[in-house]
Amino acid sequence: MEVFRIRGGIPLRGEVRASGSKNATLPAFAAALLTSEPCVIENVPNLSDVRFMAEILRHLGAEVEELGSGSWRITAGEISSKAPYELVRKMRASVCLLGPLIARLGKARVALPGGCVIGQRPIDLHLKAFSSLGCEVKVKEGDIVVDAKRLKGSAVFLGGRHGSTVTGTANAIMTAVLTPGITKLESAACEPEIADLCRMLLAMGARIENTGGHHLTIYGVQSLGGCRHRIIADRIEIGTYCIAAAITGGDITVTEADSSHLGAFLDKMKDAGITFEEHQDQIKASLASSGLNPIELTTLPYPGYPTDLQAQACALACLAPGPSIVTERVYPNRFMHVPELSRMGAEVAIEGSSAIFKGHARLSGAPVMASDLRASAALILAALAAKGDTWIQRIYHLDRGYETFDEKLRSLGAEIERLPAEALPKDFQSNSPKLASN
Ligand code: EPU
Repeated sequence: MEVFRIRGGIPLRGEVRASGSKNATLPAFAAALLTSEPCVIENVPNLSDVRFMAEILRHLGAEVEELGSGSWRITAGEISSKAPYELVRKMRASVCLLGPLIARLGKARVALPGGCVIGQRPIDLHLKAFSSLGCEVKVKEGDIVVDAKRLKGSAVFLGGRHGSTVTGTANAIMTAVLTPGITKLESAACEPEIADLCRMLLAMGARIENTGGHHLTIYGVQSLGGCRHRIIADRIEIGTYCIAAAITGGDITVTEADSSHLGAFLDKMKDAGITFEEHQDQIKASLASSGLNPIELTTLPYPGYPTDLQAQACALACLAPGPSIVTERVYPNRFMHVPELSRMGAEVAIEGSSAIFKGHARLSGAPVMASDLRASAALILAALAAKGDTWIQRIYHLDRGYETFDEKLRSLGAEIERLPAEALPKDFQSNSPKLASN
C-alpha cells in the first residue's frame, strides 16, 4: 500500500486536462453487454474502478481490449448471467450489470454489494424497477437473483427518500431498452452521466425519448448493435481542480471541460470567492481578489450541488473568513473527512446532516486517513493549503476515481510524493479494516 506525503503552501498554476468521467464509464461498460457486436468506448479514464469493471466483464465472458489512448473495445458474444461476490464486493457500481444481464439473457445473478463508508446505500429502488418491468426478484445466499422471462414495458417510479437513484435509473433504462412495449420512467435521475448513457444506447439503436427532466419514455427494441461512444469529461474532477486553484491561491485552467454540467457548483463557488473564466471547453479558476467568503451549500441530486464535490468544499470551508455550513442531502452521513480535517486544525462540528465550520483555520500538516474517494480528494486539498507535511494513508481510494491525480498536481507545481507505506513514520501506521465505496 502506498501513501502520499504533501508539502503545503504552494500556489498551483497551469493547465490540466479533464479525464473522462468514471461514473459515466462504468455504466457504459455495462451497456456493452446489451449487444454481441463490438462497442468501442473512448475517453475512458485509467482508474482502478474501470479495471475492476473490465475484470468482471471478462469473467462474464466478454472480450475486453484496451486499445490505447483511453479507447476500449468490448465484445460480449456468449456471456454468463452470474457475477460473483469476490468480484462485485470490490466495487458497488457493479450492481449496474443487473440491467443489461436481465435485458440480454432474461436472468441475472449478481452478488449484493456489501457495506459502504459513505452511507447505507440500499438498492431497493433498482429492485422495484425490475419488478415493475415484470421480473421476479429474490435475494438468495447474498446474491440478487432475477428471473426476467416475462419482461413487459410499464410505468416505473424511481424516486426515493434521498431523491432519484443514479445507478438505479441506469439499470432501469438498460433493462427497458430491450423490454417489449413502452416503459415510462418517472422521477428518473438526470445526472449528465445518465444523459451520456442514453447517448450511447441511442447510438446502439435504442429508442429513448426524454420527455422533460425526470421523465423518460423508452420503446423496447428487439436487439441492439455495436457503437463508438466518447465518454463525457469528469465534472467532479474538474470541480476538484477548481477548488485546488482557490485553496492554494493559484490559478488552474482545466481543458476539455464542460461547464454546462457544473451549474450549481460554479454558482456556489462564485459565492465562496472563486473566479471562473470560461472559454470554449476550458475553465480557468482562481481565488477572487477579495478572497474567500463563508460557504453555505446543500447537496442535492442533479442539477443541484453534487454530493461528490461536498468533501472538497469542506476543505475550502475550513479556511473561509467566518462560519460556513455544508448540508448533505444525498448521503446524510457522508462526513468521514471531517474528523481528519479537524486533525489538521479545522474547527468543525457535525449537527445532523450538516457540517458547521468556524472558519479562519490555519491548517497544519498531520498524518490523516482517507476513508473514501472524495474524502481522499478533500484531504489532499487541505494538505495543499496546510503549513508543513501531511501524510495521507489509504490512497487506493483516490486511485479508484482520479486519473493520475498526483502526477497532474505535480505538473501544476504541487509537492506531492507517492511513497511505499514503509516510508510512513512508524507512529502513523494503522491496522483498522477497510470498507468498499463509490
Ligand atoms: N438510494 C435508495 N435506494 C436505492 C438506491 C439509492 O434509497 O435503491 C439512496 C442512496 O442511499 C442515496 C441516494 O438514494 O442516499 C442516491 O443514491 P444513488 O443510487 O443515486 O447513488 P449511486 O447510483 O449508488 C452514484 C455515484 C456516486 C454518487 C451518487 C450520487 C456511480 C458509480 N456512483 O451512486 O458516486 O455519489 O450517484 O450522485 O455513479 C463517487 O463517485 O464518489 C460516488 C460515490
